[in-house]
Amino acid sequence: MTRMKWVKAALLISMAGAIVSVTGCEAGEGPIVAPPDPPPEYADKHMPAGWWADEKIIEEGKQIFIGAKNIDVNCASCHGKDGKPVKAGARDFRNAERMKLYSDAVWFWRISEGVKDTKMKAWKTKLTEEDRWKVMAFERTFGLKGMEYNVATKNWVPVGTAGAAPAAGAGTAPGGAATKGKAAPASPAAPKGGVAPAAGKKSGT
Ligand code: HEC
Repeated sequence: MTRMKWVKAALLISMAGAIVSVTGCEAGEGPIVAPPDPPPEYADKHMPAGWWADEKIIEEGKQIFIGAKNIDVNCASCHGKDGKPVKAGARDFRNAERMKLYSDAVWFWRISEGVKDTKMKAWKTKLTEEDRWKVMAFERTFGLKGMEYNVATKNWVPVGTAGAAPAAGAGTAPGGAATKGKAAPASPAAPKGGVAPAAGKKSGT
């Protein structure tokens, strides 16, 4: 190689390095993939009612997260006080695109049982169930601030809009669909077309 070629090669290598480090920063955790389903014993665990919106709960969660409540439990020592990970590989809770794929049950399961073969250990012996929910209520503020997990629709929605919406939808709100469904069996048309079940299905979606 000539000297010029060496210079060019060195330039290319440093440029490639810069690109890798830039993308490496953004996608530091690898591609965004949905987490696995929680095991059955965690599938029905959900944030206690009202806690998503409870500033006092969130503040208590912060005290746990930063190790102020118990120095043996210091999530921030890896995940970072401000949510910017300080230990390689620690989950970045600011990444909403990834974290919105986590149900409250999955999140709670991971805090409870940890992630095998990683630095993320199980916290269930150090944190009560309530404390695990509190710390999660705080953690979600890094990327999903003001959001709550809607168990019925299985997605994150603005705080205060879960709970109420499905109840209204299942009732009489959508153009009296429920009323129609009820009336159908009494009408002569019901046995023919199975109107009632169809109406039932419709109101479910
Ligand atoms: C010793 C470092 C360390 C500490 C301390 C730590 N974590 Fe983690 N945490 C990790 C790592 C590393 C991962 C990524 C695991 C993986 O690759 O799935 C992780 C992942 C997570 C996840 C996401 C799990 C998943 O499936 O992606 C949650 C939620 C979490 N941590 C919460 C906590 C909470 C809450 C605390 C404090 C009670 C805590 N972590 C303390 C290192 C740590």
